[in-house]
Amino acid sequence: MDQFVIDGGHPLSGSIAVSGSKNASLPILAVSVMTSDACVFRNVPRLRDVQTQVKILNTLGVESQWVRDAITTRVRDDYNSTAPYELVKQMRAGVCVLGPLVAARGEAVVSLPGGCVIGERPIDLHLRGLQALGAEIRIEHGYVHAKAPKGGLKGAEIYLGGRFGSSVLATDNVMCAAVLARGTTVIECAACEPEVVDLAECLNSMGARIEGAGSPRITIHGVRRLKGCDWAVIPDRIEAATFLIAGALTRSPITVKGARAQHLLAVIDVLRQMGVEVKRKGQNMTVVPVERPKAYEVTTLPFPAFPTDVQSQIMALMAVATGTSVITERIYPDRFMAAAELKRMGANISVTNGQAVVHGVESLAGAEVMASDLRASAALVVAALAAHGQTRISRVYHIDRGYERIEERLRRLGARIQRVREPGTTGDEPAQAAGAG
Ligand code: EPZ
Repeated sequence: MDQFVIDGGHPLSGSIAVSGSKNASLPILAVSVMTSDACVFRNVPRLRDVQTQVKILNTLGVESQWVRDAITTRVRDDYNSTAPYELVKQMRAGVCVLGPLVAARGEAVVSLPGGCVIGERPIDLHLRGLQALGAEIRIEHGYVHAKAPKGGLKGAEIYLGGRFGSSVLATDNVMCAAVLARGTTVIECAACEPEVVDLAECLNSMGARIEGAGSPRITIHGVRRLKGCDWAVIPDRIEAATFLIAGALTRSPITVKGARAQHLLAVIDVLRQMGVEVKRKGQNMTVVPVERPKAYEVTTLPFPAFPTDVQSQIMALMAVATGTSVITERIYPDRFMAAAELKRMGANISVTNGQAVVHGVESLAGAEVMASDLRASAALVVAALAAHGQTRISRVYHIDRGYERIEERLRRLGARIQRVREPGTTGDEPAQAAGAG
């Protein structure tokens, strides 16, 4: 397994380009099962999670491969419709093939994703939505068996709100299934994330008729078939937010290139409330750092509110703010793995019942820490860049799931970060690592 060794406390400089969005790529790649035409997907980041999705698609009979900087796909004739446990457990987002498979092939067998480090990851809303479209759902030996009725799926009015509000991948699955259903479907309490909009626009480029994506009410008029697509996914807003926070933490006026500011308004606002301005120029954003940020209170909620995927990273910034900050995590109440590791670096954080109270300290100090969830790991990297002394982060395969060649790209900003092999280990993560995703 690899580690990062980071010598922190040095300012960064220059600019960093944002990769394509992991969370847009995973459901968009899945629509390749919905057409017999070839598809081309561009701006897809070269991440472990994308590799896992490509493997899942290949097991489903979708010939998927990288051709220069794009992924091309075409459905083989000998396809099957089972997404196996050993792949879906590595990346629970593999569940996003469920809706496309039921729509296109009338059936799907997809492993239940199981839980992961950020908490239980149920899929009851996905199943409820597919049942509303007429699918028969059976759970057997850890697999979901979904089957469309003889005449195919039928449009319906579906309320898709759960105890935590909307669900991103449930919205994706139901929207995909409705695209090839007979009649019209209305999804109430749909997720409004930009990645859902990107998926809808990709499907519409294939001949789907989806209206209202990005709002809580999405209307889908069923069509008979979809043609192929040539689609470039949106920039990764979570990665962009991570880099902005790295600039704030290291007091460096770095520029983040190629992000869409309208996808980051909540993050930019929180940074502004903490005293850190973000200057926007087209698709470039430049951090205007301060000596020490001010404490603030943040609650994570579905888009357009502050995203849970940036919660760990903002916690790292709050750790060195003046005053006491409070983070309330409304999406995954247990998602505070970063706290324990930041405390090893000198942070003063207490976590109870889905809330973290962060008493700001002057500065963090390098330490040996361990990556866990993808975003908590990113928080450790940005904290280490600012901490005085050396930090060694183990199990960096968690970071590789969501950040492409992160150490190379940070080095170009002047970061002193090296990837080394953990003594006595191989280069691969343990196969049983359950991925959040
Ligand atoms: C997506 O996961 C993202 N993953 C997650 O990013 C992100 O944290 C999450 O949305 C919330 O924004 C991808 O897009 C691949 P949800 P998803 O369904 O769709 C509950 C990362 O770090 N829920 O919107 O699986 C659920 O437990 C990853 O990149 C149900 O109760 O999340 C959670 O509390 C981590 N029943 C809330 O809804 C369901 O059927 C929101 O989850 C589904 C979800």
